[in-house]
Amino acid sequence: MPIHWFPGHMNSTRQAIKDRVKAGLDVVIELLDARLPGSSGNPLLAALTTGRPALKILNKQDLADPSQTAAWLAHYNAQPHTRAIPLDAGDKAPARALIKACRELAPNRGDLAKPLRVLICGIPNVGKSTLINTLVGKRAAKTGDEPGITKIEQKIVLENGFYLFDTPGMLWPRIAIEQSGYHLAASGAIGRNAFDEAEVALELIHVLKRRYPDALQQRYGLAELGDEETVLEAIGLKRGAKVRGGGVQMHKAAEALLIDYRQGLLGRITLETPDEMTAWRQAAADEEARKDAQREAEKAADKERRSGRRQASSGDA
Ligand code: G4P
Repeated sequence: MPIHWFPGHMNSTRQAIKDRVKAGLDVVIELLDARLPGSSGNPLLAALTTGRPALKILNKQDLADPSQTAAWLAHYNAQPHTRAIPLDAGDKAPARALIKACRELAPNRGDLAKPLRVLICGIPNVGKSTLINTLVGKRAAKTGDEPGITKIEQKIVLENGFYLFDTPGMLWPRIAIEQSGYHLAASGAIGRNAFDEAEVALELIHVLKRRYPDALQQRYGLAELGDEETVLEAIGLKRGAKVRGGGVQMHKAAEALLIDYRQGLLGRITLETPDEMTAWRQAAADEEARKDAQREAEKAADKERRSGRRQASSGDA
């Protein structure tokens, strides 16, 4: 799915991260959406932060499937220099878990002489402002439902010797994995003008049918599930998205489904597993390598053609 999304502040975020690395950085917190941990992770972050220890926070866990959250936590916790914890906005003392995990990742830092310098990043709408508000106990960061609202970097002193540096939300310029594009759009991370809601809703139905068919049937009172389009039409009929003459406004039906999904009204649903994500990443890398090889072959053929023409014209002379 082509996603036309390039937040204007992405380059400045990238620069802010590079500047932080130069100024001193001990741990990188990446806020992930527990419903789509792999897709909401930034593939550029590890390179940008040059392999600093990482704390993955699986946020909005209240909306995610608990068994899948456990699988994702195990997946991240098995990686070197990485810890993962689940969190949601209902957690009254998130600072305790967060500080403890960061201290474990950088045990030799964290006093006034050698403060623990922690960067917190996450894609738009993942809940970063909400978490920071809870951490500092006042409205320090604005929250809102339009992606990309946080704009300026802040330093937050969580306790003596513990500094949290906040960066603006960042999405990457190109989403190489098609499924990730759909999942990000379904979750609300991508501005709604950047994608086709019906296309995203059909993909969401595809996942739900496979993994959470009961949730879909119960929410919309569907006795059985046909193909994706039939299901979307049925949702539209139930939600008053009819057009005169008997058809269904698919965009309205799609909007109804996406709103329900984002609000958790279909239940606790996770869109992807660690194994799926590994396979998608591999397929995307293979495809990238195939395109590179094709480009190289075309360049070589072009070069050969040009040198053949040069030889022919020097033979003519
Ligand atoms: P951001 O800074 O990363 O862009 O995200 P922000 O905190 O603005 O949160 C985006 C939306 O996600 C907000 O909802 C917020 O309430 C919701 N949210 C944040 N953390 C959690 C969580 O752990 N669980 C659930 N269920 N929701 C969470 P909103 O409807 O856009 O705004 P609001 O009216 O609720 O503030």
